[in-house]
Order: sequence, then structure tokens, then C-alpha cells
Amino acid sequence: MNNKSTDAALRCAARVLNNHAVSTGLIRLDMELEQKQDFKPGQFAMINLPGSAAFVFSRPFSILHSHEKVVSLLYRVVGQGTQALEHLRAGQYVTFLGPLGRAFDPPAPDQPVILVGGGVGLPPVWAWLKRYGRSVDKGFFGARDGGDVPWDLLDENWRISVDIDQGVPDHRKAWQGRVPDLVAREISAEDKTSRLIMACGPIPLLKAVADLARTRGWDCLVSLEEHMGCGYGACKGCVVPVLDSTASGDGWRNATCCQEGPVFRAESIDWSRYGQRDFEIVG
Ligand SMILES: Cc1cc2nc3c(=O)[nH]c(=O)nc-3n(C[C@H](O)[C@H](O)[C@H](O)COP(=O)(O)OP(=O)(O)OC[C@H]3O[C@@H](n4cnc5c(N)ncnc54)[C@H](O)[C@@H]3O)c2cc1C
Ligand code: FES
Repeated sequence: MNNKSTDAALRCAARVLNNHAVSTGLIRLDMELEQKQDFKPGQFAMINLPGSAAFVFSRPFSILHSHEKVVSLLYRVVGQGTQALEHLRAGQYVTFLGPLGRAFDPPAPDQPVILVGGGVGLPPVWAWLKRYGRSVDKGFFGARDGGDVPWDLLDENWRISVDIDQGVPDHRKAWQGRVPDLVAREISAEDKTSRLIMACGPIPLLKAVADLARTRGWDCLVSLEEHMGCGYGACKGCVVPVLDSTASGDGWRNATCCQEGPVFRAESIDWSRYGQRDFEIVG
């Protein structure tokens, strides 16, 4: 994986174009930047309110889509910062810093890709399929229930799972269960094709995907959503434990999620120290 961005991040004011719910829990924010900026799927931006309304720390969000000067995010309201975003109206401004972080790998010939998003983990994997998707690549999305699924974003290239079988529109299909189990059902263990699986979502989902990849012999990349202060390596507030045989101590060290990640090889994460909760889509 050598997909570290060398693009200079743009710091600017971004004008809100649209901020509307796309499901019961997910909101899409479209913004216009001061200049055109390109993003690689998996990269993120730090967002804040302008002037005296600003929070001490900007909040990180993955890029869902970008075209010319317009950049889109998908978010869930979980606390003060996202509550403030929810109230933004067209014509208002936020501050923007991005693109930041290490992106998902582009496609390799002869290696089909499986994309797995759980809840607000959808943007980076959706962005990948939108930009690079080939007929051999498949997307999987897991939600709490049908109401939480942003149906208009998910075309026939996506398989959908729901924890609770409620609110699924009559003309759409969703399988009830955990999204990694849906992947395991749809891609038979007899199928020995070399694959790359890339996932973003709550930690238990990432662990389950990493376990499935190990069992099947697939390459696996995961995008981690750590709490972040700066977004570019200065505060060390976003560290995750990674295995490193050259590190002093027990063969692991802290890696900055914002600079060395947010996309990591699954086998480089020290899962015994990172993420021990039961599986539940909460992202
Ligand atoms: C690289 C990256 C990409 C992300 N992409 C998205 C995205 O596309 N859409 C989206 O909705 N969210 C995304 N997040 C998570 C998002 O940054 C947090 O939800 C947001 O910062 C919460 O801010 P708040 O002020 O509303 O909540 P706070 O008041 O700060 O916290 C409210 C609750 O959310 C939890 N929380 C706060 N920050 C995080 C975090 N980074 N990860 C997990 N839990 C957190 C807190 O522990 C607390 O329980 C991403 C995070 C990272 C690091
Ligand atoms: S968020 Fe500051 S070092 Fe990563």
C-alpha cells in the first residue's frame, strides 16, 4: 500500500449548497470550495464552524464525492459538532481543510474488490466504487434498519443488510443479519479468486471483515475512525495500536490515524488492543 497522498491540503471557507437527510439517520452535506480540489477515496476533511462559533477542534469526515469545486459528506448526528452541522442552511459557511490522510488503493488488474460500509462508514467505500468500480467489484452496506439506508445512493451494484427487518421499501431488497455474514454468503468459500476487501464502519464490523479476509486469504484494508484533534499529525490525539516488530516493547506501537491512516492494512492493526466491543452498527 503506497497510496499516501502528496496533494497539498486546501484550507478555505466552504459555502453550503445543500444539507438534507438521505435516510432517517444520515445527512448529506454538499459544499462549494474556493477552488477545485481532487480527493482519493478514503481521504477525509476537517470541518468546523467559522469565526466565534468555531469548536476548539475541527471534526473529521470522509469525502463521499467531489466534482470540480463541490465536495459532499455524509454524516450522522452524534454530538455537539454534528448537531451544529445539522442546522446549516444553503448559503452559510463552514471551514474546510482537506484532502487529508492515506487513501484506499486503486484497483489492481485481476483482483476483484469487495467494499463494505457500515452506517456512516459508507462514504469512503461508496467513493471508491463510484470512481474505480468495475463489473467484478461488489459493494455491501449494513444499516440498523431499512429507514437508515440511503436508498437513492445505493444502486444495483450494492447488496444491503439490515440488523432489523423494518422499513425496507417494497421494491428494494435487504438481507437481515450482519453485513460481513452477507459477504460470506454471497462469495462462496469454494471461490478461490484472489480478492481485496476494503471496509469502513464501527470497530466490530472491521474486526469481523478482517477475520473473514484472513479465513479466505483475501487482502484487506480498513479505514479507522479515531477521535482527531488536528488531522495532520501535530497533536498525536488519534493514535491506534499497530504491530511493528521493530518497535521497542511488545512488538507494537502507536500510529497516527490521520497521517499513517485512516486506511491501514488489516493485518497491521493490533486487534487485541484495538476494538473489543460486540458487533453492532452504531457508526
Ligand atoms: C477519518 C474519519 C472519517 C470520518 N468520517 C465520518 C463520516 O463520513 N461521517 C460521519 O458521520 N462521521 C465520520 N467520522 C466520525 C466523526 O468525526 C464524528 O462523528 C464527529 O467528530 C463527532 O463530532 P460531534 O461533535 O458531533 O460528537 P462529540 O460530541 O465529539 O462525540 C459524540 C459521540 O461520538 C463519539 N465520537 C466522536 N468522534 C468520534 C470519532 N472520530 N469516531 C467515533 N466516534 C466518535 C464520541 O465518543 C461520543 O460518544 C469520521 C472520523 C474519522 C476519524
Ligand atoms: S489528529 Fe492530530 S495527530 Fe492525528
